[in-house]
Amino acid sequence: MSVREANQETLELAAGIIRRGGVVVIPTETVYGLACNALDADAVRRVFEIKGRPEDNPLIVHISGFGQLKSVAAHWPIEAEILAERFWPGPLTMVLPKHPKVPDETTAKLDTVAVRVPGHLVARDLIQLAGVPVAAPSANLFMSLSPTTAGAVDPEIQVDVDMIIDGGPCEVGLESTVIDLSGPHPRILRPGAVTRSQIQSTLGRPLGELPPPEVKRSPGMYARHYAPKTKLTLVDRVAEDAAGLVFGEPTNGFQFKMPRDAASYGVILYAALRRLDLMDKGEIQVERPPEGAEWEAVNDRLRKAAG
Ligand code: TXA
Ligand code: MG
Repeated sequence: MSVREANQETLELAAGIIRRGGVVVIPTETVYGLACNALDADAVRRVFEIKGRPEDNPLIVHISGFGQLKSVAAHWPIEAEILAERFWPGPLTMVLPKHPKVPDETTAKLDTVAVRVPGHLVARDLIQLAGVPVAAPSANLFMSLSPTTAGAVDPEIQVDVDMIIDGGPCEVGLESTVIDLSGPHPRILRPGAVTRSQIQSTLGRPLGELPPPEVKRSPGMYARHYAPKTKLTLVDRVAEDAAGLVFGEPTNGFQFKMPRDAASYGVILYAALRRLDLMDKGEIQVERPPEGAEWEAVNDRLRKAAG
C-alpha cells in the first residue's frame, strides 16, 4: 500500500474510503491510528482482524469537535465538558455512556464508549470530511509498539489497509490519557501526556485510584503491552557494553541518550525502542526514569514493555 502525503486530495480520497467501510492509517498527535467508520460494524471487525486484536478490547472513537459528542455518547457529566474545554483537541480520551448507534463491535459490548478529539489537524480534517465518527486503535499489531511515524507502521499492516497518510512524526509520541467518567468517581485507566495533576487541578478534586490489576476494566491495562520484540529490562545503571536507553553519556554505539524532561522522553521513546529492536542485541536495558508525577505515562509504558 502506498504512503500518501497529507494534502487535500489525499484527505478527500481517505474520507471516501472511510465512508465506504475501508481502513486508513492516519496520523494523530499521539501515535498513528488504524482508522475506520466507528458506526460500521463490518469495518470495525476488519480493523480487529488487521491488528490481530482480541474482540474484548474496545476502540477509541475520534470526533472532530465537542459538537459531535452527542452522536456517540448518550449523556455525560459536567466533568466531561470541563475537561473537553481544557484538553480537547488533544491527547485525552474520555470513557462515557455510549450512544445506542455505536455498534457493540466498536465498544467490545461495553455500555460505554471511549472518545477523543485528536489534536492533529490532518486527523480532525479527515473526520470532518468523512462526516462520521472514526474508530482508531494504534496502528500496531496487538502487543507491539505503536508507530509514531508512517514509516514505522508494520509491513503486515501496510499490506492490509486501503491507504496510509503520512502526517509527519507524532508530536506526543505516547498514546492518549484514558479517563473513565462513566462512574461516580473519575479514574485514569491509562496515563498519558495529559497528566493526573493537570486533570485534578482542572476538576478541583482528586481522581480515583486505578482498579487492581485483576479487574480488567481496560485492555490497555494488560500487564505486558507496548513491547519491543527484544527482552527489555529496567535497571538502575545500564551495563557498559549493553544496548539501551541512558540519561548520561552513552558508552557504546547501541545506547541512546534520552532527555531528562518527561514529555520530550515520551516523544522519542517508541522510535528509540524500535531502533534498538532492529539492532537485535538480545536485551534492551533501560535506565529507570524518576518516579515523579510527570513520568507516570513513560513509566507505565516501560513497565508494560518490561512485562
Ligand atoms: O492516543 C491514542 O489513544 C491512540 C490514537 C490513535 O488516538 N489510540 C489508541 O487506541 O491508543 P488503542 O485502541 O490502542 O487503545 C485504546 C485504549 C485501550 O486501553 C482500551 O482498553 C481503552 O482505550 N478503551 C477503549 N474503550 C474503552 C471503554 N469503553 N472502557 C474502558 N476502556 C476503553
Ligand atoms: Mg494500542
